[in-house]
Order: sequence, then C-alpha cells, then structure tokens
Amino acid sequence: MFNKIAVVGGGHVGATVAQRIAEKDLARTVVLIDIVEGVAEGKALDQWESGPIEGFDARVIGSQGYAEAAGAELFVVTAGIARKPGMSRDDLVKTNAGIVRSVAEAIKEAAPNAIVIIVSNPLDVMCAVAKEATGFPRERVIGMAGVLDTARYRAFLAEALDVSVEDIQAMVLGGHGDTMVPLVSYTTVSGIPVTQLLDAERLAAIVSRTRQGGAEIVKHLKTGSAYYAPSAAAVQMVEAIVKDKKRVLPCAAWLTGEYGLHDVYCGVPCKLGRNGLEAILEVELSEEEQTALHQSAEAVRGTMATV
Ligand code: LAC
Repeated sequence: MFNKIAVVGGGHVGATVAQRIAEKDLARTVVLIDIVEGVAEGKALDQWESGPIEGFDARVIGSQGYAEAAGAELFVVTAGIARKPGMSRDDLVKTNAGIVRSVAEAIKEAAPNAIVIIVSNPLDVMCAVAKEATGFPRERVIGMAGVLDTARYRAFLAEALDVSVEDIQAMVLGGHGDTMVPLVSYTTVSGIPVTQLLDAERLAAIVSRTRQGGAEIVKHLKTGSAYYAPSAAAVQMVEAIVKDKKRVLPCAAWLTGEYGLHDVYCGVPCKLGRNGLEAILEVELSEEEQTALHQSAEAVRGTMATV
C-alpha cells in the first residue's frame, strides 16, 4: 500500500479513479484535486463515506490545491476537457496542453519523486508535455491508453467468440488514436492464436471497432467521453506499481530507440513495478505491424509539433 496517491481532475475519469483506488485500498490517503471549488471536496467526502459499506480504510480527501498532495508517491493526471461528438482527441490539444503543463509544474513542486500516470488527451502528446514540464525521467512519466484500448479489443473478441474475457490475451500498441495498432499476431485465446478461431473479415471488423472505441462512447454520451473503462485501466497500472507486480502492460512510454523510434511517446509493452516503468519489451513485429507502429508514432509527432 502507498502512503498517498493523488488524482488530478475531479471529473468522471478522475473521480472514478479515486474511488477505485480507495476500494482496492491501494493507498492510505487518496487526494482528489480539482480547480473548481467544492467539486473534489464533495466527491471525496462522499467516496470516503462509502468506506464503511465497501470495507476500505483509505481516507479520501478533496482539495483545490496541491498542499494536501505533498509527498505523494503517485499521481494520476486526468485534468483537461473531454471530447464531444465529432471531435478527435487531437482537437483537445491546445487547451489540454496548457492545463497539463500547469498540473505537471505543480506536481514537480509538491512531490519531486512521484511517479506520474497521464490519462488526459491527446494522451501521447500530454505525456510529452508532462515529461518536459516535470523534468522527470521516463521511468516516472507513463501514459494510460494501451490497457484501455486492449480492454475494448478483448471485450469485443470475447463476445464474438463467446468465451470469457479472462481468456483473451492481447496487446494494442501505438498512439491512442485512430492509428493505434492492435497486434493480431499476438492475440491468443488461452494460447491459441485468434486467427485459428475467427476469420479475417470478423477480425478486421473488431480491429476497426477497437480503433473507434472511444468515439463510439462519445457518440452515445454526447456531452463527454468514456470513464468506467479508462479509470479501470489507469488503476490497473496503479496497482501494478503499488504492489510491485512487474506486470507487462501496453503503456505509452518515451522511446529512445526502441522499435526504431526516438523522442516520442508511443504505446509499447512495458513492465510496471515499484519504480514505475522498469523495462520496455521489444517484441518481433510483422512488417505490416512495424509500419503501422511507425505511422502511429508519426501521427503523435504531428500533434506534438502543434504544441
Ligand atoms: C477513450 C478516451 C477517454 O478512449 O480517450 O475513451
């Protein structure tokens, strides 16, 4: 268990992240921060009061500033505006870059040794902004996207195959956008290559639905984007770090030559433990997948150039 974990942004994603962290007793104190007066304070108090029913002892605290978060071992950054129908994640870049930069500067001040998980969109670019603003090494600035995209992919596959989601192993790499790269060649059902169980046409439809998974939710909600699966994904990363599990999960990491990519955030298989990003696993990719990964990284670089 960590002593303190802070969640920045008290919207749907941030509040749900805080609640999940508390319910899993991953920290003694969970600090929820939001700039809008009363939002974090109200939600945190409400969450803390669910403890006697849910059986957790974590103290959830709401705050408008960072004083309460001083010395936190881990931050989850969800601050920023969300998509509306018709918008791409990249449409958020200007507004959210400013927000994430100021959040990152505050984190650096309040907790210079913290590990930071970025959730704000456009994800890969916001990771770069946070890394630059904190000056933290890449081990301590990691992005959540691949776990979410992979969860969607696994859910769609499990439904198509009528098998348990637990038996679908897969990884979605690349940037968190339309160019993401579901690795069909590494997708298995309890070790059985998925290509033996689903025909190419159905697989292609699932890959395409996965790429549009975020937009599919935005279309339903109209006033915002997904938060149950995104928060679950972020907390899976938190848990891997807090419990030093050495889990291998697809996360956005700053690449310094891996997969032939330099100085860009991109989703790759990462080992997460107490030190944050402990290793990047370089796996063999087909030529097609390698090309798609590079195209995805280029798309991230394009958006990065606008900030
Ligand atoms: C999604 C948003 C949160 O994929 O990026 O749902």
